[in-house]
Amino acid sequence: MTINKTFSEILAPISEAEFFDAYYDKKPLHIPGDPGKFPNLMDFDILSRILGLNSIWTADTLGLMLDNTQVPREKYCDPGSRDGRSVLIPNAEKVGGFLQAGASLVAIDIDTLTPEISALADTLEDSLSAKAQANLYFSSQRRQAFASHFDTHDVYAFHTVGEKVWRIYENREPHPIRHAAFKVPPEQAKARRGGVLMDVTMKPGDLLYIPRGQYHDALASDDFAMHIAMGVTGIIGYDLVSALLERTMHDERFRVNFPRAALGRGALKTRIETLGAAIAEIAASDSFIDQFSQYQQRFRNNRMKLSLPVPVAEEVLRVKTPGLAVKSVQGRPVLASASGAMPIPPGKEKIAAWIVAQDRFTAHQAASALSEFDLLTVNETINDFRKMGLVAGAGAS
Ligand SMILES: [Fe+2]
Repeated sequence: MTINKTFSEILAPISEAEFFDAYYDKKPLHIPGDPGKFPNLMDFDILSRILGLNSIWTADTLGLMLDNTQVPREKYCDPGSRDGRSVLIPNAEKVGGFLQAGASLVAIDIDTLTPEISALADTLEDSLSAKAQANLYFSSQRRQAFASHFDTHDVYAFHTVGEKVWRIYENREPHPIRHAAFKVPPEQAKARRGGVLMDVTMKPGDLLYIPRGQYHDALASDDFAMHIAMGVTGIIGYDLVSALLERTMHDERFRVNFPRAALGRGALKTRIETLGAAIAEIAASDSFIDQFSQYQQRFRNNRMKLSLPVPVAEEVLRVKTPGLAVKSVQGRPVLASASGAMPIPPGKEKIAAWIVAQDRFTAHQAASALSEFDLLTVNETINDFRKMGLVAGAGAS
């Protein structure tokens, strides 16, 4: 059974209040746990099982890192096709070979692959009003998979197997986002990361929070180490600008031409000030705030959750044309009405006769009454009647 942990249980023994006051978006936090804190979150059996879901993995979702460098995808994948498109599909034997050689495995977007990871992602999203995305990192030797870097989202790293030493550096890039403008090449990262802020040895059940932009790296200190990194991205001011962009398009004031350049800087400044005030007015309006609040509430990754079985709402059908009857004309079965007759495909006359004798019926009732026929044939006949307009939903005219 999946144990859904609340955000305070995830953070325990640190309280939520303490986390938000002292750490959230401020500084890293290591919360030691015990191996039972996040049951069934990830182990070798679970990893083997999800890696066996062959149909989901491609070179984009399954990567290998060797000594700070990405292993070229062609080296561990075979060409294949999915949904009619050419893709590179990881080959288990080749992947195993690289793991044997000390590579680290990175599995991207695993947050829907087990109920436990999915529940954890949901809790983070609900508590942080943000989108959570899970990646798995598995190293098979004491090697460094990633050079010092920062992430463009907050990281909540859940350690599950073995031990790994993380080094957190003092410096933090000021709220970087995923855009080329914020890329820092590895050689520059070394110069910008600053001194060591903390060394953290992560053990199963431990959680490490690293705010967006904080430099870090990690080195497996066991032969096998595994963690799940939840990358959490919230709404930022830039999203407000995007929402306003959409809103201003529907406002005529923003569709009027600007004063011509010949009218001078003064005219330009006046227009900019007028529109600036209009933006401020829109942003402060109740309707915009309501709209943005709805956007915030919907700001989640959509994980499909169906509780099966879904009760079937059976449609009640009725025969639309009165006076229909199954007759035999020159030895062949026909469906006769006041306006004429049409042939019935051989073998379906009994089904047709049953349908026309009904006042109202459901597909389920037809299947029970005509149990000597297979379900497919019964449904097919009902559908043929529908297409010919002889049968319709009881609610339809
Ligand atoms: Fe990272």
